[in-house]
Amino acid sequence: MTSTQHMSYLDVYVSEKYNVLSRIIWSYDSSGVQSKKIFGSLYEPILMTTKSPNSKYTFNYDDVLVEAKTGAERKLIDYRKTPPQPYNAKKIPGNVWNFNRVRFLMNEYENHPTQKPEQLLERIILTSTNPGDIVLDPFSGSFTTSSVAIKHNRNAIGIDINEEYYKIGIRRTNIAKEYNGEILIKEKIRTTKHKNKKDHK
Ligand SMILES: C[S@@+](CC[C@H](N)C(=O)[O-])C[C@H]1O[C@@H](n2cnc3c(N)ncnc32)[C@H](O)[C@@H]1O
Repeated sequence: MTSTQHMSYLDVYVSEKYNVLSRIIWSYDSSGVQSKKIFGSLYEPILMTTKSPNSKYTFNYDDVLVEAKTGAERKLIDYRKTPPQPYNAKKIPGNVWNFNRVRFLMNEYENHPTQKPEQLLERIILTSTNPGDIVLDPFSGSFTTSSVAIKHNRNAIGIDINEEYYKIGIRRTNIAKEYNGEILIKEKIRTTKHKNKKDHK
């Protein structure tokens, strides 16, 4: 079962228990390994939910405006208005989000197989929380969620069962530079050093 098939079951489950406000598609540039048997997956679904239809929720759309092609790029004029006016250069994002996946040599890269990009979490956190709020990610992985949350003056609670990822988390959120006597450094820095050593042999 692919992660997207799996998501449709989760969608049915969540829809029964919560109130789904938006179904968002995170669309990315490449799936990594290319399948020669099916069309490879280039997206992941995201559910935006509240507890119930009457729940109040935060939606700071002004903090995440994106360029509107009609106004910013095509410079169209809306002649239905009197007097005619240029289309807005900014708009609220729709429900298809294009953010590239994190690649090995990118600054934000961490050694985790499903690391989410900072830009993706930035849009989610800025829209749905205010400074001082608490952001919980119970399956933190590379701790992108916590790292972005504290960068934007939110409080963060991040949990991961894997000790290696826990170490990434405490380093990335500036909680500690050391763990049980081990100096915490980015995996890619260590790998680069190993490579250089080999190169010199
Ligand atoms: C899909 S990854 C999360 C990736 C994350 N969003 C990121 O940006 O890196 C899921 C993570 O959940 C962790 N995990 C799995 N079962 C867990 C459990 N029972 N309690 C806590 N963490 C768990 C795994 O170690 C893994 O790192």
